[in-house]
Amino acid sequence: MNTEPTTTRLQRSPTPGAAARSDARDARDAREARDDQDAPDAHAPHASPRLAQRMHGVRSSAVRDLLAHAKAPGMISFAGGLPAPETFDVEGIRAATRAALDDPHTTLQYGTTDGQPALRDALAAHMSARGAATAADDLIVTTGSQQGIDLLARVLLDPGDTVIVERPAYLAALQVFTLAQANVLGLETDADGACTDRLDALRDEARRRGWRPPRVLYVVPEFGNPSGVRMALGRRQALLRWAVAHDVVVIEDAPYSELRFDAGGPPTLWTLARTIPGAAQRVVHLSTLSKTIAPALRVGWMAAPDWLRGPAILAKQSLDLHTSTLSQEVAAHYLRSGRLEAHLQAVRRHYAERCAALSEALRRRFGDALRFAPPPGGMFVWARFDDAVDTTALLPHALARGVMYVPGEAFHAERPDRRTLRLAFATVAPERIAEGVDRLAAALDDVRHTH
Ligand SMILES: Cc1ncc(COP(=O)(O)O)c(C=O)c1O
Repeated sequence: MNTEPTTTRLQRSPTPGAAARSDARDARDAREARDDQDAPDAHAPHASPRLAQRMHGVRSSAVRDLLAHAKAPGMISFAGGLPAPETFDVEGIRAATRAALDDPHTTLQYGTTDGQPALRDALAAHMSARGAATAADDLIVTTGSQQGIDLLARVLLDPGDTVIVERPAYLAALQVFTLAQANVLGLETDADGACTDRLDALRDEARRRGWRPPRVLYVVPEFGNPSGVRMALGRRQALLRWAVAHDVVVIEDAPYSELRFDAGGPPTLWTLARTIPGAAQRVVHLSTLSKTIAPALRVGWMAAPDWLRGPAILAKQSLDLHTSTLSQEVAAHYLRSGRLEAHLQAVRRHYAERCAALSEALRRRFGDALRFAPPPGGMFVWARFDDAVDTTALLPHALARGVMYVPGEAFHAERPDRRTLRLAFATVAPERIAEGVDRLAAALDDVRHTH
């Protein structure tokens, strides 16, 4: 997702000091060139004011853009990664809201930047109950886990720093790193998750491009978005050892961990880091209540080592002072109510059924022409056409047929694999899933007949 100008600029600036000086020089040159060439227009009433350099190359999220189409009558949308609304525990959230408002002087007031004590306690208990020993003091409540990614980019990355993401990667994380003016390298993934044996090659690649060595590695080890893959234990350990050896900070983003369709997988990177010397200082764990309780709460959290928490809190102060106190208190009451486990079991069953229906329909309709592995959890099937099908070009035909998905292009930092696509199954009723897949197949026929 890096733009040409960013790449070109940074290739000429291999060292941090040189990069900063060169950035300033380039910005000044660009301004002067603009002033020279555009002087007559610069103050014309129709001239647009100038945007900051960091906005160059930031693309609108393909998913957010697509959501506008999702409301078209009869549309079957495999596009948005939204939770199924019929699974919301409205009764439980209503009760938690009532309980929170019983103490209006707390619930309706400003709060502390790191989060409401009651919620931090509840979240620490929640993580610890899942084997990831955590204390309330390890945690900062964030406004969704999205804010956690943004905060970490602010405190860890200078313009021109190098970040490794999975290939394919969560596209709103790509947006964050582009806004941070970072250079992004993609780490291949296979059925066992990120291919950690390629990490050294990526370091070499950064050097070849004149980029700085990687500073941050961002991964979604449990049911990645979009890959749906669960990272194997050996890979998790290898990734942590590599991060220690090369002084890299690992961001573990875990929004989907609770949505497993089986008995569970390996420990989190946060937990494993406690068994590998030096790793605990380098791992940050992000999670959220968006996929388990409701995205509208905008409650996420970050578990971070001491050296990182203070700076992250400072950065958060400048962003929003604190996450909504009302939401946090509702979340704390909900977590304490004991309803979450039963609710999660129902959500898991719901999604597992839809995942199976989608996998079955895709196999029936496309056979070997579409490669995918049914994910062991989460919300997404990531698939790849065997033939040279361009899923971006296919999309208008799919929309015309009344079905939506997200083209794989959006999830690649560079060199997109255009045969790939992401199909989200959570919000489509099983009886509509087969119909949606039939429509997708019809759209593919349309394309083949037009070309
Ligand atoms: C991998 C990943 N990280 C973070 C988020 C953001 O979630 P939140 O609603 O907590 O901001 C999402 C949402 O889809 C996601 O898929």
